[in-house]
Amino acid sequence: MIPAYYEFSNRAKILSGDKAIENIPYELRVLECTHPIVVTNRQLRDLGLVDIVLRALADGGIDVCAIYDAVPVDSSVAVVNDLARTFRDTGCDSIVAVGGGSVLDTAKGANIVLTTGSEDLMQHMGTEIITARAMVPFIAVPTTAGTGSEVTGAAVIKDTERHVKMGFVSFSLLPDVAVLDPRMTEGLPPRLAASTALDALTHAVEAFSCRQANPLSDGYARAAIDLIRDYLPAVLENGRDRTARLAMANAAMLAGVSFSNAMVGIVHAIGHACGGQCSVAHGDAMAILLPFGMEYNLDVAGERYGELLLHLKGAETYASTPASERPAAAIEAVRDILQDAARVAGMPTRLSQVGVTEEQLSAIASTAIDDGAMSMNPKDADVSDVLAILRAAL
Ligand SMILES: [Fe+2]
Repeated sequence: MIPAYYEFSNRAKILSGDKAIENIPYELRVLECTHPIVVTNRQLRDLGLVDIVLRALADGGIDVCAIYDAVPVDSSVAVVNDLARTFRDTGCDSIVAVGGGSVLDTAKGANIVLTTGSEDLMQHMGTEIITARAMVPFIAVPTTAGTGSEVTGAAVIKDTERHVKMGFVSFSLLPDVAVLDPRMTEGLPPRLAASTALDALTHAVEAFSCRQANPLSDGYARAAIDLIRDYLPAVLENGRDRTARLAMANAAMLAGVSFSNAMVGIVHAIGHACGGQCSVAHGDAMAILLPFGMEYNLDVAGERYGELLLHLKGAETYASTPASERPAAAIEAVRDILQDAARVAGMPTRLSQVGVTEEQLSAIASTAIDDGAMSMNPKDADVSDVLAILRAAL
């Protein structure tokens, strides 16, 4: 069914394939830039991944203006402001961000500060409040296959004083170019590959079933789930399988385009709160909470979940499952994926396994209820609903 009204945008140019990184110098020239700052973290430098990008830039005749490698796992407002200062002080003209969600979101945050000419990111929290048109040219090179941050207009940055993860949302934040190169993810250990892949799966499932879903975001979500079904087992079994790595990078990107337009729902709302209150890794929270969130939504979103069975399990299972049983079967299919990831890669399946305690649940629930993702969930929820989900998942 087509919604009465919807919007869809994805202006990021996608480069996908072996050696896609070698095309970054060309893309910088198209953007009329010659002095990028490379934003990353020390671990990625030590792994040699940043060298691949630096070599490609040097071979393409691009002078790297500065390298900022101080982005922590959980980025913060202070890091964003520091990056923006470094960019200004060194006279860079563009951003090439190499990393996972934290690095890419930090670059987006700095882009807000730089473009608006302010000193502090905190002045710009919220949705679509960035009115400047000319953002700093921005190329994103993801090193995980999960967040989809390379194609989304969302950035999540931690306010370390208030222990809250803050969301910044604007189509202006979309990178100009997203570069998917299997060399960037082939060294990801199975545990991290699983955690990030289940984040991507959650993006696709929540985008497909949330209030803002539309025919375009649906198409991207379906394609993402097909790839995760077909290639996640291969990635967890043999990380050096470049075909599977590239497929998973595409799955994360497709799910990213989908949820950037359709938004996410209750699983993300609770997951953000688990991250802010208890420092649970985002992908772990998604993996644990997804089946419980789907169960909560089942009476409202069952028909949509039933459609997803086709993508989660394939045509044969879909055809042989009576329509009335498809919604529950879709939730079981998600549980199967999570159980496989637990068995092969040691993924947690319960919140207690990632350090969450009974005493923390009320604080998580009251934070989750105020999370922006809650508003697009197909079914309204109050604190007691969220508490019930948390208790079931503990
Ligand atoms: Fe996510």
